[in-house]
Parts: sequence; C-alpha cells; structure tokens
Amino acid sequence: MPMDKQSLEQTLTETQNPTPNYNDGDQAYKALGELDGITRLVNRFYELMDSEPHARELRDMHPADLTGARNKLVAFISGWSGGPALYAERYGGRSLAMTHKHFIIDNDTTRSWLDCMQQALADMGYEPALQEYMNSKFYGPAQSIQMMSEFEQNRPVMKGSYHDPL
Ligand code: HEM
Repeated sequence: MPMDKQSLEQTLTETQNPTPNYNDGDQAYKALGELDGITRLVNRFYELMDSEPHARELRDMHPADLTGARNKLVAFISGWSGGPALYAERYGGRSLAMTHKHFIIDNDTTRSWLDCMQQALADMGYEPALQEYMNSKFYGPAQSIQMMSEFEQNRPVMKGSYHDPL
C-alpha cells in the first residue's frame, strides 16, 4: 500500500535526523555540548539546588562554597558521557557510592537531586531524547548512592518505598 504524504514526510525526517545512539562512543558528550555545555549544565544544577525550597536539605549537605563540587561533577560527567575521563585522571577511579557513603541520603534527598538535574537538563534546552537518556542514566547511580548510604547508617535499605520511576 502506498504511504500517505504525512507518513512519508515523517519517515524522511526520521531517516535524515535519526535519534543519536547516546551510548555510542562520545555521542552523549558531544550532544551535551562537550566541556562547555557540561559546565553550564552543572552550574544550572547547583544554581537550582541553591534556590529550590525542596532542595534545602540537599544543599545543606554541601559546603558553602560549591566550587569543588562543581568541578568534580563536570569532570565526572565528562568521562561518564564518553568524553575525556577527567574525574578518573584527577581523583582516581573512586566509586560514587563510596564517596557519598558518609552522607545521610534518603528518598527525599535523592529525589531532590534528580529533580534539580532533570530541571537543569530541561533549562539547557537539550533535545527531549537526550534529556530522557540523561535522566535515566542518573537514576541508577542515585539509587546505588542512596542504598550505600542507608547501609552505612545501618538504616533499612530503601524501606517501604522505592523511588518513583521517572
Ligand atoms: C542521590 C543523591 C545525591 C546526594 C544527596 C549527593 C550529595 C553529594 C554531596 C553532599 C557531595 C559533596 C560535595 C562537596 O564536598 O563538595 C557530593 C559529591 C559528588 N557527587 Fe553527589 N549526590 C547525589 C547523587 C549524585 C549522583 C547521581 C552523581 C552522579 C551521577 C553524583 C556525583 C557526585 C560527584 C562526582 C561528587 C564529587 C565526589 C568526590 O568527592 O570526589 N552525585 N554529592
């Protein structure tokens, strides 16, 4: 059966602009705008953490000066998205769950972290497919971080409620 005009146009658009495979090499790094884009994303993330009422508890876990946290998160996302492995080069291959284990992290602080990041990704105006990819990519480590913290504090791990799926 011949394709109608609208389906044909849609197929052509999808063929000409296929959704990149962000898991492939440095595709996600490039789509984020490389180091410059990641720096702006992280600045926005911490700006939101600094000002959103829901993030007060999360903000209070951080030092007053966010410079170190900013630099480390930029370096981490660079390598993690397929770009230069700046975090591993500068700080070694430390596990995120281990670097966070001394913080008291519960469902609310994890949710605030993910919400600030989701908002920052949206504010950057990234393609929806990239936003979705990054949001679900952050979700896994956020869960491991929370679980390790709960384990360390000898609290029941993820008691009762699991995070709401994004
Ligand atoms: C689950 C909720 C999270 C909370 C409450 C949290 C909180 C924190 C805090 C308080 C610091 C210390 C900042 C400083 O001392 O300057 C930190 C560091 C850091 N966070 Fe998180 N974080 C969370 C999730 C994440 C996620 C999902 C990632 C990345 C995927 C991440 C990446 C980092 C990195 C790379 C550092 C620097 C670690 C280092 O000291 O080398 N965090 N975080």
